Amino acid sequence: MENKEIELEFSIKSGAPEKQRTACVVVGVFESRKLSAPATDIDRASDGYLSEILRGGDMEGRAGSTLLLHKVPNILADRILLVGLGKERDFHEKAYRDAIACAVKTLRDTGSMEAAITLSEIPVKKRDVTWNIEQAVIATQDALYRFDHMKSKSSEARRPLKRVIFAVSRRGELKYGEIGLTRGLAIAHGISLAKDLGNTPSNICTPEYLANEAQKTAKAHGFGCEILDYDACEKLGMGSFLSVGKGSDKPPRFIVLKHEGGAKGDKPVVLVGKAVTFDAGGISLKPAGEMDEMNYDMSGGGAVIGAFRAIGELGLKLNVVGLIPACENMPDAKANKPGDIVTSMSGQTIEILNTDAEGRLILCDALTYAEHFDPDVVIDLATLTGACVIALGAHPSALYSNHDPLAREIEHAADHAWDRVWRMPLWDDYQDQLKSSLADMANIGGRPGGSITAACFLWRFAKKYHWAHLDIAGTAWIGGREKKGSTGRPVSLLVHFLLNRTIK
Ligand code: BES
Ligand code: MN
Ligand code: ZN
Repeated sequence: MENKEIELEFSIKSGAPEKQRTACVVVGVFESRKLSAPATDIDRASDGYLSEILRGGDMEGRAGSTLLLHKVPNILADRILLVGLGKERDFHEKAYRDAIACAVKTLRDTGSMEAAITLSEIPVKKRDVTWNIEQAVIATQDALYRFDHMKSKSSEARRPLKRVIFAVSRRGELKYGEIGLTRGLAIAHGISLAKDLGNTPSNICTPEYLANEAQKTAKAHGFGCEILDYDACEKLGMGSFLSVGKGSDKPPRFIVLKHEGGAKGDKPVVLVGKAVTFDAGGISLKPAGEMDEMNYDMSGGGAVIGAFRAIGELGLKLNVVGLIPACENMPDAKANKPGDIVTSMSGQTIEILNTDAEGRLILCDALTYAEHFDPDVVIDLATLTGACVIALGAHPSALYSNHDPLAREIEHAADHAWDRVWRMPLWDDYQDQLKSSLADMANIGGRPGGSITAACFLWRFAKKYHWAHLDIAGTAWIGGREKKGSTGRPVSLLVHFLLNRTIK
């Protein structure tokens, strides 16, 4: 039983909106009743039909408002959908993406099978046509994403939206639009895979399931893929990683993905993703109220697999390795107990004071294993700490790095992808909080600066290369009952980071 991916057909067009022969043309209206350029074209062609409607007070242009018009005079499209854009001077990235999402959801709910959307023509400060189109494609796929194959009745629309045309304002912009379309689609596909993996409950999405999904992705795009089982990891000395999965009857898997798109001998970018398919906390059991969302604790690994899908679709010309330690953190007779001491692959010993701080225990061995690939840089992604959610909320991922140029490179990619990060301090001063009297370090550093001390723990295993860590605990999924679901972040950031490296 697989989630059905929506397959929309996208295209780019320039030309007069009043001459589009399609089911629906979408045009934007700013507050207070200011027509966007394509809306003005429609208004002119229809002898002021739109202005008249607006004067009547049916639509003010508030963000999120819509008005569907039938039989607009002298217009070839069956209908015109007006979408409110909010204040023109506040029309930034978020407003742009929200407007696209609002448009496509309305199109879906009104049964339009095809539409020409002119919102993509509206300039967003500091952004170009490629950006507008890429973001429009991603926002559309995001808005229409569904994960309902586990419900007995699917909520599929009777006449689903099938074809979307995004407008650019001049013919000369078509080729830049096409670049945005190609990127946007690959990224959207990567995001949707990451979402599916995240949303699949932990009774199905086990370490083994993730390994199979990684293998499927590898087969589809010609990646190398190696799955290390318990014994293989034991031979490598991954005592810290293996200790976490012991309290579960689901065997651990260490997934290795390899894309060799660059020259032989080019040092790879290594992406490491935390994949705890369910984090019950172990013997340091989590409270019941906070547990149901812990199937999303594999989101770092899911994002790596999603990013690989996009890498494959774009055929990126560089070498990338994906490392995904996957296991389940459960309480059982063989589970880690508070006070246990384990030896990591690096040889450093760890006193496990809280079995719920398991993410760092699996990542530290993956970071050591990354040395095998002689990496140019290593980036790890992990839903690592609740403290990160308290510090930054749901909008940026926390960024830590031991190398300023790498941090800037990531900040730049994150801004361009609109998949934002916020740099946090990685300072020696915090290391004292990890002291242990019996082992080389403890696995927790107390409540103050919880996301930072987790990063400091990982830093001890990333001394041999340039490294960055993204704490995605606040950004990887949306919580709550009705809107619960994976966001697929930070797939877009990762793909842009890699894309930028192929352009240099
Ligand atoms: N996976 C959790 C972090 C988490 C919690 C992410 C809530 C998103 C929402 C992680 O394994 C964990 O349990 N961390 C502990 C660390 C603590 C014991 C030092 C935490 O944040 O409470
Ligand atoms: Mn935990
Ligand atoms: Zn966890």
